Amino acid sequence: MADKKPVILYGASGFSGRLVAEYLREYNVPFLAAGRNRAKIEQVLSHVPGVETADYEIAEAGDSPGELEKLFAGAKVVCNTVGPFLYNGPRVIEACLSAGCHYLDISGEQAWLREVEEKWSGKFARAGLLAAPATAYMSATSDIAAQMCLETSGIDTLETLSMFKGTPTFGSTQTIFAVIQTEAFYLEQNRYKPWVRAQGHEAIVPSSVETQLALAWGGFPHPVWYKDHPQVANVRSMGGILDRQLMENVLATEKHFEKEIRPLPKEERERKLSEMANSVQGGTPPRENTREHRTIDVVIGRGTTSFAKCVMFGTCAYRQTGLLQAFAANHLIHAAPRKVGFASPTSAFGHRDLLGALESHGLVKARLYS
Ligand SMILES: NC(=O)c1ccc[n+]([C@@H]2O[C@H](COP(=O)([O-])OP(=O)(O)OC[C@H]3O[C@@H](n4cnc5c(N)ncnc54)[C@H](OP(=O)(O)O)[C@@H]3O)[C@@H](O)[C@H]2O)c1
Repeated sequence: MADKKPVILYGASGFSGRLVAEYLREYNVPFLAAGRNRAKIEQVLSHVPGVETADYEIAEAGDSPGELEKLFAGAKVVCNTVGPFLYNGPRVIEACLSAGCHYLDISGEQAWLREVEEKWSGKFARAGLLAAPATAYMSATSDIAAQMCLETSGIDTLETLSMFKGTPTFGSTQTIFAVIQTEAFYLEQNRYKPWVRAQGHEAIVPSSVETQLALAWGGFPHPVWYKDHPQVANVRSMGGILDRQLMENVLATEKHFEKEIRPLPKEERERKLSEMANSVQGGTPPRENTREHRTIDVVIGRGTTSFAKCVMFGTCAYRQTGLLQAFAANHLIHAAPRKVGFASPTSAFGHRDLLGALESHGLVKARLYS
């Protein structure tokens, strides 16, 4: 299949898919915009600025493993933006492996990252392929900050905080609710420890005089990325949206879930969570505005006598996600990743390179204090 586009953008009709398309166009990467509804993909992509100069085709496909494998065959990279990844990730990554493509996605659910590491890391590594879930604002941007802290020697403990202003999309809201049922872990002496369920955390955010309400939100990817790290032994990650009322509501939902919904059978539990998510957000929010939708990612690194702190002042979480995917896809069609199998975006592409991409697009500015 010599004429196949090298990148498959799966979920091209979504809010994030559209932004990945926008940045693939900037990198001049030819791509196949794929999903389950051709008309919707056409309609969404028609709003991508400058789309007439993008090198792309549209493909509609069902979501059976066979159809997905056929869709991906002959490409080099799959960018998967179809979440919640806890539900939709397995069939896509499996088809990606069968088709012999590198796998990227924009997940943030720790349970999904643990699953990718356990079930697919070895298979991807043996095929010389990368599996890099969470190549997205949450948590790649904070992991760049973590890596900046680790440039100071002696750091063995990381605390990460990722917060953004904005309206979660339909898919993000489904994911926020889906993740409530999963076990969230932090890392203590390289072992997973469960977070206390349904507990809020007052977080100190450098750019604000008030504290913010953060949640463990499924645990975040970092504990999985650092579990076998030779230097880092302890990782705690939390985050949320810079909107206290909204976070109070999510916390109240977590408490309600523990009492009323956790005891139900799995299918009923998932159905109830999805219904609750539908009642909160059924539509697509407007395009982000750089002056409104700011992000802040804080990482504090500690060793016995050493300290480092990195703050990423940024904007537009979803645009950061689109750029990170396009940067990674562009890298993979030109060069091998630094690591194969399951890997964080920073270990696959280098934190300084990812930071350079985000900074040069005006989406973040890193400040390091040590
Ligand atoms: N970690 C991060 O920083 C980050 C950032 C952004 C997004 N995300 C995650 O990415 C996911 C997507 O977010 P979004 O903002 O793009 O949501 P969205 O606007 O709701 O888009 C969801 C996309 O998934 C497709 N889809 C949903 N279920 C499907 C299925 N069963 N089969 C095939 N396609 C399906 C939708 O197709 P239709 O249009 O046909 O419905 C649409 O293209 C969510 O899980 C979100 O949490 C993470």
